[in-house]
Amino acid sequence: MNLTYEVISDDKIECCRELCNELMRFQKSKAHIKPELFDSMNFETRMIPSIRKAQHNYTVVAKDGDQIVAYVYSNISCKETYSNDFATFFDLSSVCKPYVGCLSNFYIKDEYRQYGIGSKLFTMSIDWLKQFEDVEDYFIFVSNGNENALNFYKRKGFSVSHDILDGFITVLRKSKKEWISEP
Ligand SMILES: CC(C)(COP(=O)(O)OP(=O)(O)OC[C@H]1O[C@@H](n2cnc3c(N)ncnc32)[C@H](O)[C@@H]1OP(=O)(O)O)[C@@H](O)C(=O)NCCC(=O)NCCS
Repeated sequence: MNLTYEVISDDKIECCRELCNELMRFQKSKAHIKPELFDSMNFETRMIPSIRKAQHNYTVVAKDGDQIVAYVYSNISCKETYSNDFATFFDLSSVCKPYVGCLSNFYIKDEYRQYGIGSKLFTMSIDWLKQFEDVEDYFIFVSNGNENALNFYKRKGFSVSHDILDGFITVLRKSKKEWISEP
């Protein structure tokens, strides 16, 4: 393995299309509650609109040689973005600041998992998210059946806040204060 990490600008986001679509298929394969909701979720319907709506975007890919084998996408968006026709992801009144941080898409190709790539991309994303002084609340949304990801995020310090859409999504949350109080 000859791994390198590269931050991708928004105009180069096309390079994540295949992996984003693979992530949606992966999440459908794990889900037992409303798996059919993933049928309309893909790079065009999920990632492109998120990037357009967000205030700031941060995408990192991991490459093995020339091949992209993993990506993570995070953003800073106004909290109202998270109350829409699909769902209200969290109680907007529980967030004091106008913007929130979200680790939004995360996918490591099967044969590249368990080598620390996820931890590296997670740390890069969190370091980026933490730099926005006026953001205090961070969210990750995990679809049902994906216990592996849920446990990964818990080990990294996020806590389950609540479920939405009858358990289709589990909302994980962390506040900046919690990071500040950690050693
Ligand atoms: C969840 C996911 C991103 C984790 O990525 P990963 O690259 O497998 O994660 P890591 O290798 O960094 O860490 C997983 C475990 O592997 C082990 N590990 C880490 N580095 C290692 C190394 N160098 N050698 C051997 N094992 C290692 C550790 O036990 C680690 O446990 P920890 O979380 O307590 O540190 C990945 O499994 C994935 O893409 N899953 C499919 C898509 C998905 O579920 N996405 C999330 C949607 S919300």
